[in-house]
Amino acid sequence: MIKAVILIGGPMKGTRFRPLSLELPKPLFPIGGFPVVYHHIEACKKIPELKEIILIGFYQSSESLSKFILNAQQQFNIPIRYLQEFQPLGTAGGIYHFRDQIAMGDPEGFLVLNADIMGDYPLVEFVEFHRKHLGEHSILSTEANKKQAHNFGCLVEDPETHKVLHYVEKPETFVSETINCGIYIFSPAALFKLMGEVIQRNYHKMSEEPFAGNVESVRMGEDVLATLANSGSLYAFKSSSFWSSIKNAGSAIYANRNVLSMYHKTHPDLLAQNGKGQPHIRGDVYIHSSAVVHPTAVLGPNVSVGSNVVIGAGARVRETILLDGAELKDHCCILYSIIGWNCSIGMWSRVEGSRCDPNPNEEFSRPDGESLFGDDGKLTPSITILGRNVTISGEVIVRNSIVLPHKDLGQSYKNEIIL
Ligand code: GTP
Repeated sequence: MIKAVILIGGPMKGTRFRPLSLELPKPLFPIGGFPVVYHHIEACKKIPELKEIILIGFYQSSESLSKFILNAQQQFNIPIRYLQEFQPLGTAGGIYHFRDQIAMGDPEGFLVLNADIMGDYPLVEFVEFHRKHLGEHSILSTEANKKQAHNFGCLVEDPETHKVLHYVEKPETFVSETINCGIYIFSPAALFKLMGEVIQRNYHKMSEEPFAGNVESVRMGEDVLATLANSGSLYAFKSSSFWSSIKNAGSAIYANRNVLSMYHKTHPDLLAQNGKGQPHIRGDVYIHSSAVVHPTAVLGPNVSVGSNVVIGAGARVRETILLDGAELKDHCCILYSIIGWNCSIGMWSRVEGSRCDPNPNEEFSRPDGESLFGDDGKLTPSITILGRNVTISGEVIVRNSIVLPHKDLGQSYKNEIIL
């Protein structure tokens, strides 16, 4: 029997995802029309021996989270629970804090997934790989390019046995192009013993000197994976399928494109088709069944349209996520943007962001998880994001900007954060 744990973080996380994460926990943000964690649950459900999914985070239980869990339980027919940390326990502390719940029923191993990633995870193959190293631990890895690898956990493995020889979290100097995907399978007893030792060390440090952190906090990279690699009990399974971390909103557009592309294989029924009386569809587009789109609108490629969205005549949308209840009036144009819940875009207006794609000339390039501002203090060119309930008048251009919720824009803006 196997269980899955999804680490969903909490309200102080997802800062690079603002203002969208102010409104909704980042793990519930829709990619390809469905919340990020929905895709994780769907991927986990493919493992035949999976008996339970536990979400661990420090969000206060909310209506949106409870509703999501209830619906997912029913749809996937698997028990799903949310366990809330009393305070942030770091990228692994929650696993130790709730160890009794995880160990209940004596699972042979448990899968851990970070919520801020998206991919075509080969979980069934990963479980098979893990079983070959019974009693040990496994990590899913992928390839990054040399320039970007230092943004991730990097590992060096024995090419024949796949034993991880060395693991460094976000190394300052080059270690390897093989990076951590944020997906693991652990053997419960051995992992909990190791984490118990980390917490003992934290208590010991606290007794010797004022300890700034939380004693129950455990870091997945530095405390767990590096130690497992040193003890020779961690094995890496390399995936070559699509994988991306979702740190900022720009990477959500990239993930959206890849998830829509995955639908060709997994859910072709979710992709909009051209037809009489239908809008003109270019490439991959998802349209919620409750959305109303004028037949002269042109959508795609890589557009997700949420529930109750209304799109007027002659509107043009590409590389964009339209969140629930947004209204696009006639002839507006939306490119490389996320349009927040219940926003309204006026006639002939243009909302446009910059592409945040990985460099196509570099193999294994990934979207940068850059911060909002460059070294020169200026806003880094990125997608345009409109927070909830933003109204844009007709014939206005908003380019490369982030607009906080509940704003009315009657003039054009460029490269600004509109507070
Ligand atoms: P950055 O690259 O700086 O964002 O850090 P990271 O990738 O090392 O860690 P990150 O903070 O992105 O967290 C990795 C995963 O752990 C994500 O899925 C987070 O939601 C989750 N996480 C982070 N901190 C906590 C925490 O205190 N509690 C729980 N339950 N999850 C957490």
